[in-house]
Amino acid sequence: MKTIITFGTFDVFHVGHLNILQRASALGDRLIVGVSSDELNVRKKGRYPVYDQDDRMAIVAGIKYVDAIFLEESLERKAEYIHEYQADVLVMGDDWRGRFDHFARQLDVVYLARTPSVSTTSLIEVIKKR
Ligand code: CTP
Repeated sequence: MKTIITFGTFDVFHVGHLNILQRASALGDRLIVGVSSDELNVRKKGRYPVYDQDDRMAIVAGIKYVDAIFLEESLERKAEYIHEYQADVLVMGDDWRGRFDHFARQLDVVYLARTPSVSTTSLIEVIKKR
């Protein structure tokens, strides 16, 4: 049983999110997703997500490529989460390239190319302008 783990906010769920979850799940047998908490998002991105953490977790849990979810409350606890869920592969989008290389002692680290031309931030800007 090969377990894949990934993390993210997944706010205003879009096709880039779907693509990375699909490609991550294809790397193993079980995909676990740590959905960043509202407070973590404020610390990480300086704002509250549009959708709150309960809704974001419900959306991600409903994606057919996802086997289990949990709430990621701290960036510093990644090693703990990886251990707890017995993950074999950590997948991150390549916007994070290099930043998780130190986990390579614990498990395989794979950076997947982001889907071009879509992000939650750009979607919010587009919606604001309409
Ligand atoms: N992601 C992706 N392709 C995109 C956007 C996101 O592969 N076009 C991936 C990210 O690399 C990350 C995961 O989806 O692994 C969750 O990203 P998140 O930060 O929640 O989404 P963004 O759309 O990048 O959000 P923001 O614009 O707020 O940074």
